[in-house]
Amino acid sequence: MYDEGFFNQRTVLVTGASGFIGSHLCARLKDLGALVHGVSRRPRNNGVVQQWWQADLDDELATRRVVKSVSPEIIFHLASFVSGKRELDAVLPALRSNLLSTVNLLVSSTETGCARVVLTGSLEEPEGDAATATPSSPYAAAKGAASAYARMFHALYGTPVVTARLFMVYGPNQQDHNKLVPYVTLSLLRGQSPQLMSGTREVDWIYVDDVIDAYLCLATRPGLEGETIDVGSGRLTSVRSVVEQVVEIVRPARAEPDFGSIADRPLERVRTADVRKALLLAGWKSKTSLFEGLMRTVDWYRGNMGNL
Ligand SMILES: NC(=O)c1ccc[n+]([C@@H]2O[C@H](COP(=O)([O-])OP(=O)(O)OC[C@H]3O[C@@H](n4cnc5c(N)ncnc54)[C@H](OP(=O)(O)O)[C@@H]3O)[C@@H](O)[C@H]2O)c1
Repeated sequence: MYDEGFFNQRTVLVTGASGFIGSHLCARLKDLGALVHGVSRRPRNNGVVQQWWQADLDDELATRRVVKSVSPEIIFHLASFVSGKRELDAVLPALRSNLLSTVNLLVSSTETGCARVVLTGSLEEPEGDAATATPSSPYAAAKGAASAYARMFHALYGTPVVTARLFMVYGPNQQDHNKLVPYVTLSLLRGQSPQLMSGTREVDWIYVDDVIDAYLCLATRPGLEGETIDVGSGRLTSVRSVVEQVVEIVRPARAEPDFGSIADRPLERVRTADVRKALLLAGWKSKTSLFEGLMRTVDWYRGNMGNL
């Protein structure tokens, strides 16, 4: 685990601070006494950051301006176009908000200097031989390329960068209600049948509070520069099983999930986090069981239905 006192009065920059994971991270950092600067394209303060920066990180000059002005000790880069859609219209947004934003941030932080840059990778990145692996989506291609840049920046310029490769994150206040857990939860709470694929895909699920613990370990643990650390539970659970657990928690549900009403997507990946490496190098492992995490998540949506 991490030293809780480490962040007190330290200046940190969180990109994608308005997003699902970014807002949880900002809240935790604030609780730990950090001076939190948040950035995203919207003129929105997530309520807990010290200062809000409105910038599109696709833009080199805007990125440089934010990083120079804040001069953070630690950068957490979460800004991203987060969609696994395979359609052609996803290619350029994925390129800009996942790859270009990361390269801009790596250039700026290397020029300005900082103690650690924590990037955010994904289970969707291609595995195996980088020269021949075929990405499954524009998002996967851009995330894989961003990780390659991270390794290059570390090797060539000594940038103190570490990548948190996140598996499937769920938890309270996930703003994209099309993602599986919020979609199924909200549908059932509203008495509507969620329309779903077959549900056979197996996924490594990880609760958002555990992910925040991982970010804090990756930011503080010495000797992690250049590494990629998997942030997952190490266990596979099918989509169908997750949906059935949500049904059990919501009970009495007034509607049933409609499996198979949507066609399965091509090239779905099945991948389990390397939890041994995460524990050995980063001193981190997940604590929250899937059922416990889903209970907390459903509770939150139940309590906040009126505001969504
Ligand atoms: N959720 C998961 O299960 C999961 C799994 C694996 C990896 N990840 C990774 O975890 C990170 C956070 O994901 P999330 O679920 O929290 O996503 P999210 O809720 O969609 O948040 C994405 C954030 O990025 C900002 N953003 C997007 N493009 C930007 C740009 N060009 N410049 C500045 N800000 C930009 C968005 O704000 P604006 O729209 O205001 O700009 C938003 O704050 C991402 O890197 C994602 O790829 C997530």
